[in-house]
Amino acid sequence: MSTVLLKNGTSIPQLGLGTWYLGDSASTRDEEIAALRYGIEAGATLIDTAEMYGNGRSEDLVGEAISPYERDSIFLISKVLPSNASRERIEHSLDTSLRFLNTDYLDMYLYHWRGAVPLEETVEELERLRAKGKISSWGVSNFDCSDMSELLEVRGSQHCQVNEVLYHLGSRGIEVDLQPLHAANSVTTIAYCPLAQAGRLQHNLITNKVIQTLANDHGVTPFQILLAWVLAHKDIVAIPRTGSLKHMKENIEAASICFSQTELDLLDSAFPRPRHPVPLDIQ
Ligand SMILES: NC(=O)c1ccc[n+]([C@@H]2O[C@H](COP(=O)([O-])OP(=O)(O)OC[C@H]3O[C@@H](n4cnc5c(N)ncnc54)[C@H](OP(=O)(O)O)[C@@H]3O)[C@@H](O)[C@H]2O)c1
Repeated sequence: MSTVLLKNGTSIPQLGLGTWYLGDSASTRDEEIAALRYGIEAGATLIDTAEMYGNGRSEDLVGEAISPYERDSIFLISKVLPSNASRERIEHSLDTSLRFLNTDYLDMYLYHWRGAVPLEETVEELERLRAKGKISSWGVSNFDCSDMSELLEVRGSQHCQVNEVLYHLGSRGIEVDLQPLHAANSVTTIAYCPLAQAGRLQHNLITNKVIQTLANDHGVTPFQILLAWVLAHKDIVAIPRTGSLKHMKENIEAASICFSQTELDLLDSAFPRPRHPVPLDIQ
């Protein structure tokens, strides 16, 4: 499994596991746990959850899925809602997440999206929680260039490790301005919705001729091509979500797909990056 090095020196797997909507239904719980464990055992040991996902149901499921493994073999990410990112509320939110996850620390805590709490206050609190050892690191999510530039002026922001944003072949806006800003400040990009939610966010991806031809040539599915394209960016982490064992196996296999330069050029022509800055897509 390829890895990406955070600026704090921590190495994380390039392919992680998303968990939005997992844990919502008792009837699919066993398969979701089996899928997550398959992913973990294949080396996708980074797991992305959030207090928002099913009001703790996703965190609860993740807690059960990771229970057989040594805690330090997993890189656990959860997120605080904007309304809870204040001095008064953040530690209570974190404690609730830790209880659901059945652990006493997070490897990374993300500010889910920008809200009304002053950035200075949230960063001060994240740093306080880091000093206490309840989180090993922190980052942000859904921060566009203007939010990121503001953040970078805040005291303590040099400890922001990642920005988790929407990125897939059909939504390449971050390449124009946000990704260069991340690179200049050693902030790692985590790509969510790498499968464009199985094509729901952009229907033409799955039916596209170039993607279908590449899928045929490699003997894989169009979804695996989408994921492999994100993973072809060696400095970006991708966190596809699946509750299906079959799809988890396919997603793990996708990490081994290598494109030739000609194939990458074909994908570039079919889905070009925008020429000018565009607002960040958000889900
Ligand atoms: N920070 C944020 O604001 C934010 C926002 C959105 C998402 N996220 C994170 O990013 C993760 C991924 O994003 P997402 O869940 O929205 O979208 P996604 O990973 O792009 O797509 C998930 C969908 O793809 C399907 N799928 C997965 N693997 C597949 C495969 N090999 N073949 C066919 N279909 C497949 C899944 O269904 P099956 O279960 O049936 O496989 C599910 O319907 C989330 O789970 C969450 O952890 C973060």
